[in-house]
Formats: sequence, structure tokens, C-alpha cells
Amino acid sequence: MTSERVAVGIVGAGPAGLLLSHLLHLAGIDSIVLENRTREDVEGTIRAGVLEQGTVDLLTETGVGERLHREAFFHRGVYLRFAGTTRHIDMQELTGGKRVTVYAQHEVIKDLIAVRLAAGGDIRFGIPDVALEGIDSQRPALRFSGGGVARRIECDFIAGCDGSHGVCRHSLPRGTLQRFDRVYPFGWFGVSVEAPPSSDELIYATHERGFALVSTRSPTLQRMYLQCDPNDDVANWPDDRIWSEFRARLETHDGWAPIEGPITQKLIVGMRSLVHEPMRHGRLFLAGDAAHIVPPTGAKGLNLAVADVRLLARALDAFYRSKDESRLARYSDDCLRRIWKGQRFSWWLTTLLHRSESDTPFDRRRQLAELDYITSSRAAMTSFAENYVGLPFE
Ligand code: FAD
Ligand code: PHB
Repeated sequence: MTSERVAVGIVGAGPAGLLLSHLLHLAGIDSIVLENRTREDVEGTIRAGVLEQGTVDLLTETGVGERLHREAFFHRGVYLRFAGTTRHIDMQELTGGKRVTVYAQHEVIKDLIAVRLAAGGDIRFGIPDVALEGIDSQRPALRFSGGGVARRIECDFIAGCDGSHGVCRHSLPRGTLQRFDRVYPFGWFGVSVEAPPSSDELIYATHERGFALVSTRSPTLQRMYLQCDPNDDVANWPDDRIWSEFRARLETHDGWAPIEGPITQKLIVGMRSLVHEPMRHGRLFLAGDAAHIVPPTGAKGLNLAVADVRLLARALDAFYRSKDESRLARYSDDCLRRIWKGQRFSWWLTTLLHRSESDTPFDRRRQLAELDYITSSRAAMTSFAENYVGLPFE
């Protein structure tokens, strides 16, 4: 058995774990990140695309924004498409200058890994068997094996940044967490397409046949989503079926159609809203998807993970600087205030734009009336915009 010591042991090298490690390093606090997947896998998994203004600002202020500012798309707002018409929400104007930034999650991850490794950071990939020990004690530890040797890292604190299927949350004694959950009866069929952008900004569309989203990744690679049955199989979706569905759901009275191209990736994701409370147990702190999940419609998941670790890094900094534990004590409550607003917004936008089998004609009329309202009332548009580009950090 080899034994090491570190201030903060971080499980998971997703956006939450990597950014936490970076922020702690800037505060002079050492950490070790343990990740079960390989670096190639972590850097190659396609997930989120939209960053809130506060996320962009934080990455920029902490020296990880250089490539983002060169390569991201900065949009003034988004389009909402319904009943064959398109309405623009100018979020930049409505929020006093905040923009919609489209920059893929795996690019943020590549930038964070690069900056950590350049600073001599300790990220260990391909560790499949992390286990937590002594989480009720003052000296919790992470155990794993590496190179055929049993290893143990003693920590002051453990940060559970290991996503929705990680080991940290499941290491808590039964009954310590309260779970708030909603599963939606639909999923998203996501595709990557080799083609130029079809639109200068994202299009969120609702149609009798269901939701569709046009997003982007680069001048040559586009990302698009269709509402689907979460239990469907991608094998049931040959390319021509996908394109005819996109054409139908995105059609406008003036004949708009997406630019088609070779589809290079297809996947189906289920949709749920989920919160575990509290986000702390003794010296274990949960952050990001390890504690909460939102349906992707509001583009909030990665941004909430960033907001959590921003607070956690500040709380740990106060602890190491002046033995002040008050921020650590407040961590869960402070995070949950923002998380529940993110949950509300994601649930609202999801139910506004998706079709459900249990919907009645009344429900559809109500959805269309609400879309008409939020695209014509400045007060309603501002509410939508300030949530989408990100509520201010408190
Ligand atoms: P994760 O990214 O899940 O990272 C957790 C890491 O921990 C992973 O690398 C995992 O391999 C590792 N891990 C797991 N178990 C262990 C273990 N036992 N030991 C060691 N390591 C472990 N969010 C947005 O903000 N905007 C969007 O536009 C958006 N779009 C999305 C679109 C889709 C299709 C999907 C699926 C999600 C989207 N999200 C979006 C959500 C966003 O991707 C997640 O909220 C985000 O990845 C959360 O980051 P995280 O670091 O908390 O968790
Ligand atoms: C994406 O580009 O992957 C994306 C964009 C907006 C969303 C969700 C995902 O709401």
C-alpha cells in the first residue's frame, strides 16, 4: 500500500473537477484529480455547447479563456420558432450586454487539462476503482489501485465531481440525502453534421411533431437535436428519416430548411430533473452533476457545475486562509439557491417547447399563447433572457 497526502482529493475530471482543481491552484491549495476514463475519452466526449456569460467571465479571469475567445461563437440571442414563424430574442440588448457563447464542453475540458498540466497539476486518468474511506472523519481518504499496487490518498476534504453515475454520492450512508426528481417522457436525439451553419444563432423550435434545436460547433460542424422517445434506438433512425423530421419540425411559412450534410454522430439522451440535498456530508462536498441534473433545454448543466465549484473554491480558500468555516457550512445552501432557479428555468423551457402524449389540445394552445407572450412582452423576454445568459452570481 502506498500512502500520500493532499489538501483536496477530487473525484472526476469533468468541468467541475478540473475547474475546481484550477481555482484551488490559483489560491495556493493543492489537489489531486482521479478520473476513471482515459484522457482521450474525456477530451472527446461531446456534450454541452452553451456557456453563460458568468462562466465565460470566470474562465477568462482565471486565464483559461484565450482559445475560447478565438474560437467560440458569440451570439446576441436565440431564435424561437413556432407555428411556422421565427421570433428573435435579443439577449444582449435585454441584459445589458450579456451574450450567448457557443463553445463545446470538451473544448473547455481540453483547455482546463492543458492549463493544469502546464502548472504541474496532478490529474490521474484511467483509475477505475476509486473508493471513499472515512467520510465521517476529519481525515477522509481515497483508495484505488494503480500499477498493481493498492494506493491511498489522505485528504482534508473530498470533492465529489464525478457526475451522475459517480462513486461519491453513492458512498454516503443511506438516508443522508433527500432526492427531488422528475423524469420526462421524452429524450433528445442528437446528431453532429458536417455542414456549414444553417443559422447565425441557435434555433429552439416547437412543432406538432415535437421539439427541434439547431446549434453549432464550428464553421464546418453543426449540432442538432430532435425530441424523441427516450427508449428508442438510433438504429431506427437512418439519415433520411432524421432529415425529413428536421425539415418538418423546422419548417417556416417562408420555406426555411436546414443545410444538410453527412451525419457523423448519433445519440439518444434521456431527460430528467434531479436534485440531491444537502450537497455536503462531513468533509465530502458534491458539485455539478454528482448532485443535480437538469434537462438540456435550458443549457444549464455545465454552467451550474461551474457555479458550484466557484463557491466551493472560495469556501476552501477562506478555510485555508483564516480557518473560517462559515462558507463551507453555507456551501450547500448557497449552491442550492442557484440550482433551484436553474431547475425551474430548465423545467419551464422544456415543458414549453416539448410535446407530450398526455398533452391535450388545451395544453398546445396554452404553449403557443405563452410563446407568443414571451416573444412580444419586453418584461417576459427579459425574464427569459436573464435566465438563459445566466443569473448574476450572488
Ligand atoms: P461530468 O461532466 O459528468 O464529469 C464527471 C467526470 O467524473 C467524468 O469525466 C466521469 O468519467 C468521471 N467519473 C465518474 N465516475 C467516476 C469514478 N467512479 N471515479 C473517477 N471518475 C469518475 N450543459 C450546459 O450547461 N449547456 C449545454 O448546452 C448542455 N448541453 C448538453 C447536451 C447534452 C446532450 C448532454 C448530455 C448534457 C448537456 N449539458 C449541458 C449538461 C452538461 O454536459 C453536464 O451538466 C456537465 O457535464 C456536468 O459536469 P460535471 O463535471 O459535473 O460532470
Ligand atoms: C448544444 O449545442 O449541444 C446545445 C445547445 C443548446 C442547448 C443544449 C445543447 O440548450
